Parts: sequence; structure tokens; C-alpha cells
Amino acid sequence: MKNQTILPLILLALLLSCQTEPETTTIQSPQGGLQLEFLLSDTGIPQYTLTRNGAPVIDTSGLGFNLRESGVLREGFTLVSTEASETRESWTPVWGTQKEILNHYNELLVELSEKGDNPRKLNLRFRLFDDGLGFRYEFPEQEALKEVTIMEEYTQFRLTGDHLAWWIPADYDSYEYLYHNTRLSEIDTAGYNYNIQDRADRYIANPHAVNTPVTMKTGDGLYLSFHEANLTDYAGMTLGVQPGNTLQSELVPWSDGTKVRTQTPFVSPWRTILVADTPGALLTSNLILNLNEPNQIEDVSWIEPMKYTGIWWELHLGKTSWSLRQQEGSWGDKGGTGHGATTENTKKYIDFNAEHGIRGLLVEGWNQGWEYWGRDTLGYFNFYTPYPDFDIEALVEYAKSKNVALIGHHETGGQADHYDAQLEKAFEYYNKLGIKAVKTGYAGPVTPTGERHHGQYMVRHQRRVIEMAAKYHIMIDAHEPVKQTGLRRTWPNLMAQEGVRGMEYNAWSDGNPPNHTCIIPFTRMLAGPIDYTPGIFDITFNQYKPDNRVYTTLAKQLALYVTIYSPLQMAADLPEHYTGNPAFQFIQEVGVDWDDTRILNAEIGQYLTVARKEKGTNKWFIGSITNEEPREFTIPLDFLDEGKIYRAGIYKDSETAHWKDNPMAFVVTSTEVKKGDTMTLKLAPGGGQAVSILPVE
Ligand code: NOJ
Ligand code: CA
Repeated sequence: MKNQTILPLILLALLLSCQTEPETTTIQSPQGGLQLEFLLSDTGIPQYTLTRNGAPVIDTSGLGFNLRESGVLREGFTLVSTEASETRESWTPVWGTQKEILNHYNELLVELSEKGDNPRKLNLRFRLFDDGLGFRYEFPEQEALKEVTIMEEYTQFRLTGDHLAWWIPADYDSYEYLYHNTRLSEIDTAGYNYNIQDRADRYIANPHAVNTPVTMKTGDGLYLSFHEANLTDYAGMTLGVQPGNTLQSELVPWSDGTKVRTQTPFVSPWRTILVADTPGALLTSNLILNLNEPNQIEDVSWIEPMKYTGIWWELHLGKTSWSLRQQEGSWGDKGGTGHGATTENTKKYIDFNAEHGIRGLLVEGWNQGWEYWGRDTLGYFNFYTPYPDFDIEALVEYAKSKNVALIGHHETGGQADHYDAQLEKAFEYYNKLGIKAVKTGYAGPVTPTGERHHGQYMVRHQRRVIEMAAKYHIMIDAHEPVKQTGLRRTWPNLMAQEGVRGMEYNAWSDGNPPNHTCIIPFTRMLAGPIDYTPGIFDITFNQYKPDNRVYTTLAKQLALYVTIYSPLQMAADLPEHYTGNPAFQFIQEVGVDWDDTRILNAEIGQYLTVARKEKGTNKWFIGSITNEEPREFTIPLDFLDEGKIYRAGIYKDSETAHWKDNPMAFVVTSTEVKKGDTMTLKLAPGGGQAVSILPVE
């Protein structure tokens, strides 16, 4: 009798407590501008919305998967629990664009379970920062899900309009494209005549999809950029355009069409949305880095940001060749008159570097195998056997005696499995020699055949390379890489990456138009530093290739050292094009590692002016670049220290400079400046200006 009256009372109390304490499903960003709401639809579909100051940025968007073993996982969910928390911490990057990074966010963890028998569990973790949102899927260990093969990920971003987007196609193999600027609904690769059908290292499956980061401007003048953070043992994500201004994740597949092969427990990479009032604010966001794990490398004393030259541009110009022997059909032979990476030529570069205080020297074409690169053969590169005319041991010693660091080179031609087989031996070899930086490359279709540069196979491969390099104290500069997702926080030996249509395209294609370097800071560079390889002074290089050129002025080449951020920054031109040129002084002086970064003005595709303060010094550098339009800016020098006098070295386009017909005309002047002064920058069409501001002792 007693129990019969108590039980309903307990049930009632439980019910009331549930009603009075509803699960938290909404969080604000630390300063309250952004709001994230998690919802379950009537049919149990997990969804989220993102609003800014009350206005929607992302409308109700669905989340979920299709799994090969157990089918679609995106409806019929119930909410098990939610948990909200706040994190505020600062961390110091080993190198970067600023001294300290604030990591401040509010988090919502949502635990979900399917209804019915043998329910599958799926958690969602949202982190809301003042400058955007990151969220990921977390699959807990569970009976109902052990082996998991992801066939589709259904992450939606339902936008509030047909925004203007800066995009490149969702090529599963390559990021080496010019950016297009169209409405979302106009994203379509048809009509661009990419001529990729006959290239085994290009593949566009969906003409209405993009690679990330993809950046947009909304009708309200807001800037959004979509990407991912901490891509670990998963497939790279492209975004397909769907009706209703919607983007949906499309993962890069394995050769058999599956997307991700894994087992529980596992987490997906973070899906990220930057939200900014101005284009400049996109550039200073640390959201992607903050969503990566802290540094894993204890002793970082060997990690060294630096400028470098290379036996490189002369190979792309066809002055010399990568391969020792001329071989028809080989990409390693551009028709040059001889082998570039000889002992004698390398010494010439070492001497140049020593004289001008440039620390690094990259040498490409030093090892056996280049005769076969790009031809239909497999397994040709050898990563620890130099060509006989390259005395590597003597050169390393010679370089050391002059305080020059040789940068090694591993071009794999895309043959990742072949490289894997030599990986440890290759890094051990360089480590024994004392070489502590290596440029890797994957120029060619990936082997095993059918795997893609941005699929899970290569994501795994790239991580093995980074970790093996760390073991042997080697920094990595990866070309044709897996996209950057902020791993440099965890593995600060992952320095720069390509994955961009860089300088090399000016040597042998229709080139990069003047606006290209005004777009990539707001798109590709939001993912991480790029090895763009600026600094071409002989802009038309008629001696080598009269039909090609760089679409720039010389002063703009200098400005790129500041507007493009990279801890490895190349002075890409031939030594003979620098010798005696007063503009080279700027390349000698400019920093590569920074305590502070200020975006002084910015408009995507039009112009960008950046000031950076070199790490550990009081030196500031300004770079300002424009597209085809001439510009004049007045810049307040309010970032300088109070009461200090500085000498400004000004490298500007001359009055008559023009990227098209007078690209090399520049003027160098110098003046004293202090905090409170203003400086007027005058940029020619396709031009730029560089300024070094050094304290007067
Ligand atoms: C493509 C890279 O982007 C380029 O920098 C390199 O010189 C060639 N591959 C050869 O490895
Ligand atoms: Ca490349």
C-alpha cells in the first residue's frame, strides 16, 4: 500500500525536475555576438543554426552519415544529454604571425542515441568563438558500431542567400587553380576549359562543388569562410552546392568509392565557419589553429623559420634540368643545357647566400630518378642516392662553414607507397648529413593507382611523413600536399605547404593574373602558410622564355614577403638577377617569424596592406599589394613604439611603373618615422610597395 502511493510521487518529482531544468541546447560566443543552437527535428534529425546579433548566418542545417555496415545515421535520434562549458587559455606558438594566441570559446557537447533496439550513439561537440564556429562528430565506443566505413557525411551549411563566393573546383587531387568569384548558384566548372581530362593528377567529380577554404560575402556585407581543422585519419572534405543556397560535405573517396575506413571510438575533423565583419578580420583568426591539439614536439630547438634560395627557378625556366641525362618525355628535363644540381652550381648558390645572409638553400634534382618522372614508369626516385655530379657530403660541409643550411628535396611524383618504403631511411640519411629541412612533392597521380591527393590514404601518408620527419629533426615544406588544417600547432615541423597555384605557374603556363595574390590571402591562406615562392626580379625572363612572365611589378614582389605569411620564404629568382639590385636589400632584411600582425586595409581580390613586427626585435615591415588598379593609401603608423625613432626603407613602384609594360621600374627612398606619423603608399597597376621600419639605435 505504502509503495503504491510513493512511486507516483517519485515519478512526478522526476518529471518536474526534468521540466524545470531543460537541457541546454544553445550557447553564445564569449562576447555574445554569435549564437549556436542545436535542435532535433520532429523525425529526430540532428540540426544546428548559427545566428549573429540575432540574424541567421546558417539556417537550420542537418547533420549525419551513411555508413556501409549499418546504414543511414541521421534520423530517429533522441537527446541523451547536453553539457556546456567555457574554455579560456593562451598558448605560445613555436612560430607564427603573433606571439601569443588566445583560445576562448564556449562549448556544447550533445549526446545522441537512436531510438529502438540496438541503438547507435553519436555525439556532437560545438565550439563557438567570437570569430566563428567549429563542430565535430564524435563516435563513442559502442556495441552497435565497431568497424565503420563512412560512405557519405551529410553535413549541411544552409546559407541565407545566394552569396558571392571565391572558389576553386573540388578537385580531389589538386588545389592549383585560379579562384573564381561568382554567386553560389553559379559555381560550375563547365566552361572553364580546364583541360584536365588528360591529366592523371587532376580529378573533378562534381562540377558544382568546391575545395575549402571557400570564402563568401553575404548580402549584409558579412564575410564567411568554410573549412576544416585537424584532418586526422579521415578524408578531406569538399563542399557540394545544393538547391536552396546549401552546401553539403562531399568527402574525397578511396579508389573503391568508400570515404573513411575506421572504427569506434573516433572523431571527425572539425567543420569550421569563420564569421567576420571585414575581410581583414578573416586573416587574423586563430580558430583553425585553436581547434588543433597542442604541440607534440618537446625539443623544438631545431625548428627554424628561414628565408631560402634554391636551384629551382632555373629548372622551371629551363635554364638547367632536374635530370642528369636528357630524356624525352620526362618532366625532369625542361630542355635546359645541363644538370642544375651540380656541385659547382650549388657552391655558387652557397656563396651567394653567405654573402647576403640568406640561411636556406633548396636543391632540386640532386637524387637519382628524374629521367623517369612523368613517364609511364613506377618506383624510379631514390631518396638517398645522389647523382654522381652532386657531392652531397662536401656540399653540406661547405654550406655549414658558411652558415648556410641545405634544404633537401623528396619529389615522389605522387608515388606515395614507393616513398613510404624508403621513408625512414631517407630521413635518417638527411639527418646524418645534418640536413634539417626537406621539401616534399607529389607532382603526379598518387600510387596506389586511384587514390587521391586529398583522400584518407594520403591523409594517413602525410601524417606518417610529418611524424617520421619530427623523429629525425626535420622540418617539412610539402608541395602537392593534403590541404592544411592547422596541424602545424601539433607538429610545428610542418612549416609551409604549397597546395596553391604558386609562382611556378608563371614560368610555364598562362600565369597568375595580378589579382591572384590579392585573393589567396582570403582563401587558401586561411588554412595555413603557403610556399608561394615570391621574389622574381627578372619579371619577363625573355632570355629563357619570351612567351611567359610574372604578372607583377618588382615592388609588388617585395611586398609579397609581408602579405603572404610563411615561416619558409623563398627568394626564388636566380642569384644573378639579385646581384647588384638595391631592391634585394629588402629581401635580406625582411623577417619570417612574427610577434605581431596588423591588417591595415583589405578588399578581397583588390588590395591588401599588412604590417608585421619581427619576432624578438623592434623591426616592422609593411607590404601593400594591388590588382590591376593603381591605388594610393595613407597609413597611420600608430603601431610603432611611443618615443622611438625609426628609419623607413621604402621600396615603391616608380611613377611610370605598370605590371604590363614597365614592371621593373622602382624607387628606393628612406626617411625617418615615428609613432603618430602617416605614410602614403602609391601602388602602380599590378604593383605594390614594401617598407622596412627599423629602429634607430
Ligand atoms: C612541383 C613543385 O610545386 C615544384 O616546386 C617543384 O619544383 C616540382 N614539382 C619538382 O619537384
Ligand atoms: Ca606544384
